[in-house]
Amino acid sequence: MQRIRNSAWGLLDLLCAGAAGVRSGRPTATRRPLSSGQEPLKKTPLFDFHQSHGGKMVPFAGWSLPVQYRDSHLESHLHTRRHCSLFDVSHMLQTKIFGKDRVKLMESLVVSDIAELKPNQGTLTLFTNEEGGIIDDLIVTNTSDDYLYVVSNAGCREKDMALMQNKVSELKSAGCDVNLEVINNALIALQGPSAAQVLQAGVADDLRKLTFMTSAMMDVFGIPGCRVTRCGYTGEDGVEISVPAEKAIHLAEVLLENKEVKLAGLAARDSLRLEAGLCLYGNDIDEHTTPVEGSLSWTLGKRRRAAMDFPGAAIVIPQMKGRLARKRVGLTSTGAPIRQHSLIMNTEGAVIGWLLQSPWILSESGEHLSMLLGISHPLHTGEITSGCPSPCLKKNVAMGYVDGGYSKIGTPLLVEVRKKQQEAVVSKMPFVPTRYYTSK
Ligand SMILES: *[C@@H]1O[C@H](CO)[C@@H](O)[C@H](O)[C@H]1NC(C)=O
Repeated sequence: MQRIRNSAWGLLDLLCAGAAGVRSGRPTATRRPLSSGQEPLKKTPLFDFHQSHGGKMVPFAGWSLPVQYRDSHLESHLHTRRHCSLFDVSHMLQTKIFGKDRVKLMESLVVSDIAELKPNQGTLTLFTNEEGGIIDDLIVTNTSDDYLYVVSNAGCREKDMALMQNKVSELKSAGCDVNLEVINNALIALQGPSAAQVLQAGVADDLRKLTFMTSAMMDVFGIPGCRVTRCGYTGEDGVEISVPAEKAIHLAEVLLENKEVKLAGLAARDSLRLEAGLCLYGNDIDEHTTPVEGSLSWTLGKRRRAAMDFPGAAIVIPQMKGRLARKRVGLTSTGAPIRQHSLIMNTEGAVIGWLLQSPWILSESGEHLSMLLGISHPLHTGEITSGCPSPCLKKNVAMGYVDGGYSKIGTPLLVEVRKKQQEAVVSKMPFVPTRYYTSK
């Protein structure tokens, strides 16, 4: 790739001009590092459990979490698809929203039809800003216990709290009845085809009635006050169990007594979710990505689209018609693994986004100048946002952003891996079929 030398200031101007052109003059906000490196890492209630089971602890979103245990990443990944695995997801933010105006509060922040949720039904949704950018992805469940149960990302904890808290204050001062409470429970995910069978041994409820994205309070292996939600982040059937913190280790030990269950860490979690085509916030979607660009239009509620009453709707809704400048797609390839920040080109080798049309933004070493200079930038068109070799498919799977004209399934493209171009093809997601326990 041709590289043109230029002065740093010229490059800076170009970066800013390019960003403004593509993003309609929105200010370039700093992409926040997931872990500040200043504060000590937070420990989940399962920290001692991880250590005693050989967990290799790493920093993730400000928390100390196991990247893997004694099994290899590959073994752990395949075990989840064949049996089931236990993941500690206690770092996620769990909140309850009370009050008779709780639905009004939630709908003022997210894109989905919250008022249409049946009792104990949940949905994946998105907090959006006034520009239509995704502030976070989250699951909102309409519990039959007079509150909404909300689970959002650990890395977005502070901004999510501020967002919800400010709206609570605003609505309260307008005379509304709404309150927010943080739940300090641990959260244990049990994921895989045998997850329900393993859990069934410890609960009185018939889990055949707990379908995908529904939730119930139950005693789990004698522990009262657990919320079991049939959902997950691996593409498999499975549950997430919100358990009082002081009982978390006991529950994990009991579950692990079953031979079906093994421990899995962040590494397996990442490759599993990628095979399932699911986004990692901060990697694949961020505040400069809209739900439509992120290929998450299905989260936009029907009523909300018609009313255009969610934050950023005036920008997001028109994107649903016509060609998009950037869209998240799945890519598959053989050969060297495609990784985050690999570049995407068309078959002529021409770069297909504003960044890539400007090769001088690449340094001699091939890195984006914006990164070298520590300038934050949105998820670029023409750039891979997540990628790994798929343990199940034995080829590379990845996702990234391309100009809408290149987003059709089957479109042949090139990806630059270690300065070499290799063939890739736009592919349907999920890459590995999901096996959620739906009622149909
Ligand atoms: C939520 O569940 C309750 C039952 O707890 C039900 O009365 C209500 O209609 C459901 N929907 C909403 C938006 O509250």
